[in-house]
Amino acid sequence: MIELRGIVKKFNTGSASETIAIDHLNLTLQEGDFVTVIGGNGAGKSTLINIITGSLPADEGLILLNNNDVSGMPEYTRAQYFGHVFQDPMIGTATDMTVIENLALAFGRGKTRSLFRWSYRKSDVEFFVKQLKTLGLGLEDRLYQKVGLLSGGQRQALTLLMATIRSEPSYNKIKRDYVRFFDGDKRQAKQEIEQIFKNATENFKKQKAEVLASNLNKEEKKQKINAFKADLDKTLRQYDVTKPVLLLDEHTAALDPKTAEKVLETTDRIVKENNLTTIMITHNMKDAIKYGNRLIMMSKGKVVADIAGEEKKKLTIETLLNMFVTHSGNDMLSDSAILGN
Ligand SMILES: Nc1ncnc2c1ncn2[C@@H]1O[C@H](COP(=O)(O)OP(=O)(O)OP(=O)(O)O)[C@@H](O)[C@H]1O
Ligand SMILES: [Mg+2]
Repeated sequence: MIELRGIVKKFNTGSASETIAIDHLNLTLQEGDFVTVIGGNGAGKSTLINIITGSLPADEGLILLNNNDVSGMPEYTRAQYFGHVFQDPMIGTATDMTVIENLALAFGRGKTRSLFRWSYRKSDVEFFVKQLKTLGLGLEDRLYQKVGLLSGGQRQALTLLMATIRSEPSYNKIKRDYVRFFDGDKRQAKQEIEQIFKNATENFKKQKAEVLASNLNKEEKKQKINAFKADLDKTLRQYDVTKPVLLLDEHTAALDPKTAEKVLETTDRIVKENNLTTIMITHNMKDAIKYGNRLIMMSKGKVVADIAGEEKKKLTIETLLNMFVTHSGNDMLSDSAILGN
């Protein structure tokens, strides 16, 4: 869950050109919410995302990630909890590095003490190939090519994958994050999580000992132990509270319509498969209606409309345009938003 409370962001404070980009904004996203954001040029959409990631400091307000205030957390620490994709396909990937090196870099995000974070193991390659295949762009055959050679659409799809791919966090990291993001007595939370992990591990050891002492053959023993180990892993991973929040800032705006649609469909699939909490800024009203379970409209740094669930499903471009005219004052709408293409 992510919650923004009373966020204010001004630019050029105190000068004649002072702008209030975000004006006492409140917004709460539940786990798995996929929110599309529309609003005219200068409404504050990008600023909002930049404040969430910490690339811009807010002047006022709190940013709570799983009830924990991350406002003071530096951008590089926060980065492991957010996946950010920009409009410009040139941002987000390292041009001079190969497809696989880029993926390895993203995969290692949040890992501590890893000096060569773009190095990868043989076993990772198989995983990367599987993930690339899901994009349906043939990138799995271009693992060792530099990213600079890819088209804009291919790069955006790769950036999207990089924003959401990550190696399974270590058990110690799961425990640490559980305590860090716990709302309440953190000392007690630490004791509880330690106890849960200890019990589960001891239970696994007991199961293992029983299998080893049984008169099954070697292969059967191995299979049983592996199944118990997988159960243990699944149990402990339930306590991982820090899946990345996906932040998309017009990430398909620079692509041709066909490629844009493909990247959007990929986005939708990744979000649904992983139940990712997502904010997607778009100027395309059709896409804003089609994707996600919730739509917000921004104007002058405020949320002026917030439509979810069944009501969102009933939205049409016409109703959105009318709403836009009512709420948006002087904000400009682009032609593509109006035409919905
Ligand atoms: N670095 C900056 N310095 C000064 N003013 C800025 C800066 N970044 C944004 N602004 C101003 O803040 C306001 C909000 O800008 P923002 O980029 O968040 O709008 P947006 O909704 O993303 O618009 P667009 O649809 O054009 O991308 C605008 O008035 C903009 O000019
Ligand atoms: Mg913007």
